[in-house]
This record gives sequence, C-alpha cells and structure tokens, in this order.
Amino acid sequence: MKAPRVSTYRGMIFASFAETGESLEAHFGPLKKYIAYWFDHSPVWRVTLSRPYRAVYHGNWQFQAENSTDGWHARYVHESALQMLERFGDRCRAVGWPGCTRGFAHGHGVLEMERNDIPPAVEEAFTEHIDVLNRRYGAETAEQIYLRRHIAIFPNLHLMEFKFRVIQPVAVDRTIIYEYPVRLEEVPDRINAAIFTRIAKDISVSSGSLVAGMVNADDVEIFGRVQSGLQAAKVPWLYLSRGLQPDEQRPTGEVVSERTDEVPQRAFYREWARLMASAAAEEGEDDL
Ligand SMILES: [Fe+2]
Repeated sequence: MKAPRVSTYRGMIFASFAETGESLEAHFGPLKKYIAYWFDHSPVWRVTLSRPYRAVYHGNWQFQAENSTDGWHARYVHESALQMLERFGDRCRAVGWPGCTRGFAHGHGVLEMERNDIPPAVEEAFTEHIDVLNRRYGAETAEQIYLRRHIAIFPNLHLMEFKFRVIQPVAVDRTIIYEYPVRLEEVPDRINAAIFTRIAKDISVSSGSLVAGMVNADDVEIFGRVQSGLQAAKVPWLYLSRGLQPDEQRPTGEVVSERTDEVPQRAFYREWARLMASAAAEEGEDDL
C-alpha cells in the first residue's frame, strides 16, 4: 500500500495513509523543541540506529504508549531492579526524583528528569560530552539538551534516552516493541561506547536495558497482567487523575506538572478519543 504523504525530520521518515491532513511540523507543534534537543546530542543532529531488539507482550499497545512517559510506576514495578542497583553500588535515587511531565495537543508527552545516575565507569565520557555541548551551545542550552527525556511522539514512536522505541500493535491484546540503540553521529567513539554501556550493560533505571535486562522485562510482565485485569467487567472506568489539579497550562500550549503526574497519559488519551470519535462520525457511528 502506497503512503500518500511522506515527510522527514532529522533523518526520521514519517508516512501517513491519509490523503489529507496537517503537516508533520504542525503535528509536532511545541513538541518539536524537545525533539530537536534530543538530536542536538549529535553535532550534526543525526543518529544511527543499531539493530533493534524486540519484545512481544500479550496486551494492548496503549500500555506501552502510556508507560514510556510514566514517572510513577518505577519505584513499584522496578523495585527489584532498584534494590539490585543499590546492592551493587550503582547510583540510584529511588525516592524524591526531580523532574517533570509534559503533555501536548496531538497526544504527545514528555517525561523529563536530570541525568544524575550515570554509572561511575562511564562518567568521564559523559562529562566530556557535556563539555562539548557547553562549548557549542552555551551552558544554558547545553543543560536543556543534556536533560534526560522520554519523548512520546503520538502515536507509536518514542525517543527514549539514546534509543528509539517503536510500538507495533498486532491485535487488541498483542503488541511488539522494537528498541533501537542509537549512536550519535560525529562524536568520539568513546562517548558512543559509554552510551551503549549505559544502555546495554548497566541495570539502568532510565534506559530499560536490553532483552536480558531487568527493567523492560518488569514492564512487559505488568502489561500482560493489566490486560487480564481489564477483563473485570465490574470496573467500567480507569482513572488517570494523578496530578490533575496542579496541571499548569503554558502559553506554548504544553501542560506541565510534576514527574509522577499523569499529564502525558491524559494528553495521549484525549487525542486518541478525539481521533476515534471523528473516525466514528465519518462512518456515521455516533453511538461510540
Ligand atoms: Fe518501567
């Protein structure tokens, strides 16, 4: 099937099966600033994807879409991984994490936090990298670039810390996740090696680690359990109200709140519901 509309941004290729619709830039909206920060880690604003690893779970694709920008679940779902980090002397702050969540029109979201848990073995390379960013952009912008972000581009592409996550829905209760470690183009090899070490070898709080790691495995297990739990017809509604009251609407159009608030999740489902309702209206199914 030929995609009628194709656009690119920083080497990423996006396709739409809709003949008409808004441009990719309009779809990004104010999220574009954060996508740009993510690519600014490379002086030529490009990354190379490594071969992906793959996880399959028996649950709906939306669980992973919610999860990537969720700052609340880690201290529970990943408790055993966090304990392991502490036991082996890696850096870990399991409580009181600073940071924020951001929600956007069009369903995008961001989970943002300080990059303060770099393992000692690779700290030197990361320090060298932030020095490069400081010289290139100035300290203020470099600090913004260097923040650790999980950027959820609606509907199914996530720019995690130094990896791409692509969600492929297969059935209502079956999903494949592809995760592509990235290499920053035009940076010294030792910096990319440090990044890969952080992603692949450390039991990292942020990066999820690869197939044999502890963190993604936790999430995928929970997705399957949530799918089972949702069969309970006695509970008609699930609440995503965490942080609803302090939601702060910024002039840029983004909503910003604390790190554990469900701002990105609400943004996601608002857009999903809007699209589903408009599709139903087009088909004359106004009883959705
Ligand atoms: Fe998780």
